[in-house]
Amino acid sequence: MSQNSSVYGVANESQERVHLTYLVDRSMPSEDELHPGSDVVRGLSQTPKTLPPRYFYDDRGSQLFEQITEVPEYYLTRTETEILKSCAPEIAQITGACELIELGSGNSTKTRILLDAYRSLSYPLIYCPIDISAGILESSAHSLLSDYPDLKVYGLVGTYELALEKLPQAQLPSRMIGFIGSTLGNLNSAECDTFLNQIANALKPKEYFLLGIDLHKSKAQLEAAYNDRQNVTAEFNLNMLQHLNQRFQGDFDLTQFQHVAIYNESDRQIEMHLRSLRSQIVHLQALNLTVEFAAGETILSEISRKFDLDQIKRLLTAKQLDCVQVWTDPHQAFAVLLCQRA
Ligand code: AVJ
Repeated sequence: MSQNSSVYGVANESQERVHLTYLVDRSMPSEDELHPGSDVVRGLSQTPKTLPPRYFYDDRGSQLFEQITEVPEYYLTRTETEILKSCAPEIAQITGACELIELGSGNSTKTRILLDAYRSLSYPLIYCPIDISAGILESSAHSLLSDYPDLKVYGLVGTYELALEKLPQAQLPSRMIGFIGSTLGNLNSAECDTFLNQIANALKPKEYFLLGIDLHKSKAQLEAAYNDRQNVTAEFNLNMLQHLNQRFQGDFDLTQFQHVAIYNESDRQIEMHLRSLRSQIVHLQALNLTVEFAAGETILSEISRKFDLDQIKRLLTAKQLDCVQVWTDPHQAFAVLLCQRA
């Protein structure tokens, strides 16, 4: 395995404070680099049909997701932010000075809450965002650097998997990996297992893992959150087809598909689908793919699992990640867990 690193300055005055390392595994190019869209071909050739959630996030999709976080029914982001505001000082107290490694750096609102808490205790601020997109890393570094004059950013561009294997030598005695936003919920149980193993392997004993997860609740409330009245979630879901049209010269007719989100109570997961409104044939020219849809046939575009606190704590313990503290909101809608590597 070889690694291609380069140091990348964001702005003149901040040049020494931002370092981006590009992790590229040249001995083993990813399936996606070798055969772009092969995951789309696979998903659409299966029964039932599926599409990988990562295709939600083109520029428009990221914008729409930001909009979802603001609709009244979508309580997740708002609730997690409130929890973090109230527990961040305790988190900083418990962990002591430590580097914050964040998986998926997205918009930095929630990161700021943590940085503020560490700054209040006069701890040095070292932030290592990990993201597959260099552009996202740069913009999140930019937005933080001007407000945190003593912050140092060491970004890793690459997959979580590769980045967790290649975490740079820590400059502080301890580290905390943050995985907030309930992104864990998008992994099925096998993927979740593998992921938690990777987290445990990346940490030294006594280091920390901070996890934000959405909790099981009534079907009515969950389905409302994924079927907002302004139809932003519907647009977000349908935008995936638009994205595939652009990326792979497709001819999905967006008026002939419908957004569906249902809470599967026995598996405790929201299942988001795109339902074909009639029998139709779709082509993706760049992938040399022709797909037939029956009227009413669905494509599964995302699962979003809703956890039970005891169950996730047991799973974490089994993965050598002992839960040291849990914070929730007054309605127990969402939870933030601080775990320590055994
Ligand atoms: C960003 C993965 C947490 O599962 O709730 C929002 C994505 N999908 N509305 C979630 C999403 C539909 C979201 N996560």
